Amino acid sequence: MKIGIPKEIEPGERRVAATPDSVKRLIELGFGVLVESGAGDSAGFADAEYRESGAEIAADTAAVWNCDLVTKVCEPKTSEVALLREGGVLVSLLFPAQNEELVEALAARRASVIALDAIPRVSRAQKLDVLSSMANIAGYRAVIEAANVYGGQFTAHITAAGKTPPAEVMIIGAGVAGLAAIAAARGLGAVVKAFDTRPAVKEQVESLGASFLELDFEESGEGGGGYAKVMSKEFIDAEMALFREQAKRVDVIITTALIPGKKAPTLITADMVELMKSGSVIVDLAASQGGNCEYTVPGELVDHGGVKIVGYTDLTSRMPRHASQMFSANVAHLMEEMGGGENFGIDEENEVVRGALVLRDGASKWPPPKIEVAAPPPPPPKAAAKVEAVEPESPQPAAPSRGLLPQAIGLLVVAGILVSIGRFAPPEFVQHFTVFVLAVFIGYQVVWSVTPALHTPLMSVTNAISGIILVGGLLVAASGKTDLAAWLGTIAVFVASINVFGGFLVTHRMLKMFRK
Ligand code: NAI
Repeated sequence: MKIGIPKEIEPGERRVAATPDSVKRLIELGFGVLVESGAGDSAGFADAEYRESGAEIAADTAAVWNCDLVTKVCEPKTSEVALLREGGVLVSLLFPAQNEELVEALAARRASVIALDAIPRVSRAQKLDVLSSMANIAGYRAVIEAANVYGGQFTAHITAAGKTPPAEVMIIGAGVAGLAAIAAARGLGAVVKAFDTRPAVKEQVESLGASFLELDFEESGEGGGGYAKVMSKEFIDAEMALFREQAKRVDVIITTALIPGKKAPTLITADMVELMKSGSVIVDLAASQGGNCEYTVPGELVDHGGVKIVGYTDLTSRMPRHASQMFSANVAHLMEEMGGGENFGIDEENEVVRGALVLRDGASKWPPPKIEVAAPPPPPPKAAAKVEAVEPESPQPAAPSRGLLPQAIGLLVVAGILVSIGRFAPPEFVQHFTVFVLAVFIGYQVVWSVTPALHTPLMSVTNAISGIILVGGLLVAASGKTDLAAWLGTIAVFVASINVFGGFLVTHRMLKMFRK
């Protein structure tokens, strides 16, 4: 089966759907690859590199579009649809809900079409999720654009002449792009705060070193399928009050707030822009869906009274090399998911493929059936539901002392049991029991002092240490006898060794992910 990689014709598009590395992977998977000459030029991949990786190069665009399967970045133009082979397969970004005419044109060619933007956001499909990998890059680039336009440094600077404070950056929407922006802004030394309608992201925001802005308002933004839901007017008003307050202080605002398929909510209004310091910057990632800022002009950088508003819609294309690497890796994973070159097929039982399938041999498959994604547990109800911004640094009001009596009774019972054990149990038992209680206490304190993101490596190292059973096993096995106990000891040594070495190995690998 042959895959065609055409050169992108969308003005300003610099990405390409396959790189020399992904070509190697596709060939390993049993595909042949035909790349249009110059397809990778603007992303920094020369024809010669593709050839070295095993691809054929064609100067003839029609030949590339005549392949069994064509994969590209942007949705095809009418001229490209006309080149697609009758009954061929197209894999690209498509946004089928917004592009009905395009879908009809493709149906007329009896095409089978996979929309990469419709890959469901489920854990199993993460490696195929083009939108996530592109949003990740866009979040990073948004910070670079902000730093480029901002007239100061992001990090605090101290010289003999004096010092400058770090830039304050506020990120609205801590989804994929927002989290990448937090990491990048923190990396540059800025003080970062973030807000999202989904309280579940608070931990992720904090583990990246940013503070999470909270509203004392009882409404969760958790929607389905890994995305957010549209919030009530009252909530939006409350969050806007928070942003208005922050607008006076922060130097940079990066907005990424969006619910897929909906117009982006206007969260930064004209009056907030007026409140911002001259020289401040807003980068609006939602520009192509109407923008989160009232002054955003999609694709443009506008200056409003000294406040720069960046509305670029091609942030990923501004990092064409890495964006192409990520995009093409996602495509290669999808090709593997679909059976590889030998057994390629559109399996409608596969929820990931079905979720992205728009047309099959010209027949409409859109919209796909809903995939149920387990929702995170609801947050505990708050005592008050008044609309009031809460700064992360400000102490939370003390919770009403409900349930104090049962707690006191519980403590008294526990104290009574401990006293009875101390008074009546044999001394040997008391000794072991004391060690046990202390171990539970220390274990609890240790685990709770560790950043949640490091819990898994911590658990695996604890696992390794628990392999102390090895010592017991060795003592029994080396007793010189050949009875059942000795055999059990030998087996214990073997199993515990797996625990010890495996535990340290897993810890080592996981910690490597956190090191720069
Ligand atoms: P996402 O769905 O992962 O994140 C969006 C976040 O916004 C979610 O966490 C959601 O809870 C939050 N949100 C929704 N409504 C909100 C509100 N009213 N207030 C605060 N937070 C709210 O989306 P992802 O993948 O991070 O993409 C973010 C944006 O970046 C999208 O608009 C996407 O189209 C855009 N993007 C822009 C690019 C460009 O070149 N400009 C390139 C790639 C993505």
